[in-house]
Amino acid sequence: MLQEKITQYTAEINAFSTTKADELEQFRIKFLGTKGIIKDIFDEFKAVSPEEKRTLGKVLNEFKQLAEAKYQSLKEEGGQAQGGKDAGMDLTLPGEGFEVGARHPLALVRREIVEIFNKLGFIVAEGPEIEDDWHNFSALNFPEEHPARDMQDTFFIKKGGEKGDIALRTHTSSVQVRMMEHGKPPFRALMPGRVYRNEAISARAHCFFHQIEGLYVDEKVSFADLKQTLFYFVQELYGEGTKVRFRPSYFPFTEPSAEMDISCTICKGDGCQLCKYSGWVEILGCGMVDPNVLENCGIDSKKYSGFAFGMGIERIANLKYEIKDLRLFSENDTRFLSQFKSALI
Ligand code: PHE
Repeated sequence: MLQEKITQYTAEINAFSTTKADELEQFRIKFLGTKGIIKDIFDEFKAVSPEEKRTLGKVLNEFKQLAEAKYQSLKEEGGQAQGGKDAGMDLTLPGEGFEVGARHPLALVRREIVEIFNKLGFIVAEGPEIEDDWHNFSALNFPEEHPARDMQDTFFIKKGGEKGDIALRTHTSSVQVRMMEHGKPPFRALMPGRVYRNEAISARAHCFFHQIEGLYVDEKVSFADLKQTLFYFVQELYGEGTKVRFRPSYFPFTEPSAEMDISCTICKGDGCQLCKYSGWVEILGCGMVDPNVLENCGIDSKKYSGFAFGMGIERIANLKYEIKDLRLFSENDTRFLSQFKSALI
């Protein structure tokens, strides 16, 4: 009877050929486990007659070796299919997907703006976010104690308890100054970056946001150049046929100064909530660089003239993606960020 069992199990072992980890483990438990068949057979063997023991002993040992060898070779085979690692992994199962990140909408918009101006020969320049009074205000023609400084609520950095002349930059115009101080005209540059203002955080205002400044200084640069450059920019960004209009404005560092509106990107000028039913939305401030600013930066204002403009990147992104709450840009909620996946590359 024992002989019969062994013959039957030998056939079963010989027929077994899978390298799948879970089935192989079942095999090990069934034959080689502490409560397995081999253990049972050896227990039965103890009860057989001495004559039988002589013949069966050898058969039994061979049977045990067969089961062990089979298990080992299948295990190794399974391991080899995996290059030696993760033995028995089932390669037929579908792979696990992994999440790919998305670019931030502000990064997408910034890149689009930079690419448009690159075509016109503008390079990208950067400057520090912690600025001194000179670069953020004085060189830009903000007189000391002049109310124009209150146009931008500033975070000052205190030095020894005193209000020092160090502040978080309130605009990227400080980078204009740095560029002109350290180089020679012509200048044609875009300066993207983060700026800070002391404002209560709400859907419409934040204590930090992003701007892109543009600067063009050369001989005989005129207001017509400014208008044409910005007109081209708007056609590229929002499509041909987008209208522009300039309204007179005031900035200490430009003269004359203007604010530029575009025909509403949502209603195309018919009137909607976004443009407050006016058909126009403001997108940037601009003007001819004030000769005082050129002189402050060591540039001969008789020989050179230039224009500058500055826009909020959040504002442009809002017009493009209709993001109504500014806070979304900095909360890093993946439900918001993952919506920009399609624009990954
Ligand atoms: N610096 C201005 C602001 O932050 C924008 C601006 C830049 C206006 C350059 C004119 C020229 O509001």
